[in-house]
Amino acid sequence: MHVLALLWACGLLLNEVQAWGFKNGIFHNSIWLERAAGVYHRESRKGRYQLTLKEAKAVCKYEGGKLATYEQLEAARQIGFHVCAAGWFDKGRVGYPIVKAGTNCGYGKVGVIDYGYRLNKSERWDVYCYNPDSKECGGVLTEQQKIIQSPGFPEEYQDELICYWHIRARLGQRIHLHFLEFDVEDDTSCLADYLEVYDSYDDVSGFVGRFCGDYLPDDVISTGNVMTLKFLSDASVTAGGFQLQYVAVNASVITQN
Ligand SMILES: *[C@@H]1O[C@H](CO)[C@@H](O)[C@H](O)[C@H]1NC(C)=O
Ligand SMILES: *[C@@H]1O[C@H](CO)[C@@H](O)[C@H](O)[C@H]1NC(C)=O
Repeated sequence: MHVLALLWACGLLLNEVQAWGFKNGIFHNSIWLERAAGVYHRESRKGRYQLTLKEAKAVCKYEGGKLATYEQLEAARQIGFHVCAAGWFDKGRVGYPIVKAGTNCGYGKVGVIDYGYRLNKSERWDVYCYNPDSKECGGVLTEQQKIIQSPGFPEEYQDELICYWHIRARLGQRIHLHFLEFDVEDDTSCLADYLEVYDSYDDVSGFVGRFCGDYLPDDVISTGNVMTLKFLSDASVTAGGFQLQYVAVNASVITQN
């Protein structure tokens, strides 16, 4: 059984490698993609299959959630939650939800593919969190242009939000951010509420700036075809929020100017 699980894991790794990196000119990773019925999948900032059970719990807790139970994972699966990556869930169990049978994932089965309760809690997997109260915000944006707003805009945004927007333009394009309105709780170091911009596909590298207050930030143009925006609000005081537009531009067009 143990060996079988390992084989499955290896199969997953091999099959999933192609799902990473550039596909149709868009850089893909799966960090913040899937969510249904309060259940969502997370991987470590270091990449796939890097979380011990303890670290997995911390990832969910950071966002105000906890490890999903088998029942929650199954409920999410029944409304279309399909992720081809094994993750920890409640009580040190590992598995992943499969909706559409495929030979590449879950060996043609449909259901929660269950590796069982792991004896070794230091094994490294992804994680499935549950947080029904998390306010919907953020997402993966692949449109050529779009307006991004703080949740509820033009109403005030709520307390305790964490939103990630991943903008993924086509390979060879760059992303031009232009702020239209900006009003985020002001403090000198932007420690309370802030919007951060990263010239990268995550919020680890490529830091461009952290913004709060009511000055309209300058335009930002990415160096590559991906960009990440992170908006965080604390437990008190909100403000009007923000609205910005991004446009994907052909890199050659910018260089000529
Ligand atoms: C538990 O898993 C970790 C990570 O795979 C491994 O390094 C360690 O040797 C395992 N421990 C035991 C007792 O099998
Ligand atoms: C951008 O590049 C694509 C493919 O190279 C081309 O089809 C498109 O017309 C270009 N768009 C602009 C605005 O130059």
